[in-house]
Amino acid sequence: MATLIAAQPVTQVAATDLVRDLDLTDDEVQCLLDLAGKVKRTPAKFARALAGKYLALLFEKPSLRTRLTFELSIKQLGGDSVVSEGPVDGREPLKDVARNLERWVQGIVARTFSQSTIEELAQWSSAPVINALSDLYHPCQALADVFTLRERFGELRGLKLAFVGDGNNVAHSLMLTALRLGVDFAISTPEGYAPNAEIVAQAEGLAAVSGARLQVTHDPAKAVAGASAVYTDVWTSMGKEKESAKRRKQFASHQVNGGLMALARHDAVFMHCLPAKRGEEVTDAVIESGQSIVFDQAENRLHAQKALLLMMLR
Ligand code: CP
Ligand code: NVA
Repeated sequence: MATLIAAQPVTQVAATDLVRDLDLTDDEVQCLLDLAGKVKRTPAKFARALAGKYLALLFEKPSLRTRLTFELSIKQLGGDSVVSEGPVDGREPLKDVARNLERWVQGIVARTFSQSTIEELAQWSSAPVINALSDLYHPCQALADVFTLRERFGELRGLKLAFVGDGNNVAHSLMLTALRLGVDFAISTPEGYAPNAEIVAQAEGLAAVSGARLQVTHDPAKAVAGASAVYTDVWTSMGKEKESAKRRKQFASHQVNGGLMALARHDAVFMHCLPAKRGEEVTDAVIESGQSIVFDQAENRLHAQKALLLMMLR
């Protein structure tokens, strides 16, 4: 069965970890998208590719999609996983956690409150560490999303993706991933909720190389003008629940509804990483409309992560 790997050559990722989107090179992202397509079309060819490999899934926050699609990904590639819930450093220092895990598993998938937790795990673990969402990034989501866009439109370059809502982890990863692939990216947030300035500066650098355009605004209508995809996420991310009443007021101008969708291209799709709060960042009518591809995104988390594991687990 090991010959299956030889029959399906897989580009290995040069970096040991995926803690930030930019740990992957542009070429590696392109390879990953191609491989995700192959995995999706012919899953049986990869059914034993990671036989004997194990993942540790560390979740400090709830998850449906990320946790289950990582569990399914590794199982469908012939490996298996174990899960730990709760604070990663609740009982001992991160450097000890990392040096335990590296003795048992070939990869660590971590969803944490703080980006620094994932970075410290990566620093101390020889097993690859994959960011399954932190306060700053959600790289696995962005990979599945650009795969979904490519599947829908055939070609990424020249598309415009508009993100309307909070300048959060999902927005950061999408911005970086879209721009490096030549997708124009516009983001509209209420005042005070703009994306992280350092990440915007990195994104500008990527845009200068790829030729894509970046627009950062507080006007949702401007952001969605000419967009092929309108994306939103919850106004209150996990860990910020105390701010939800205040945010509901401050984000009211940033709801994706039929009126806003009508300002995008006529063939525009609606995207959301899920879970969604209907009636807040998106209306029920939009998320249930024919324009909505949110469940394609959710499905593609599986295929994109299978490709990622094939490229990262050695
Ligand atoms: N989109 C996403 O990451 O969903 P979960 O929080 O359910 O993993
Ligand atoms: N921004 C959201 C994404 C959930 C998948 C959060 O961090 O809660």
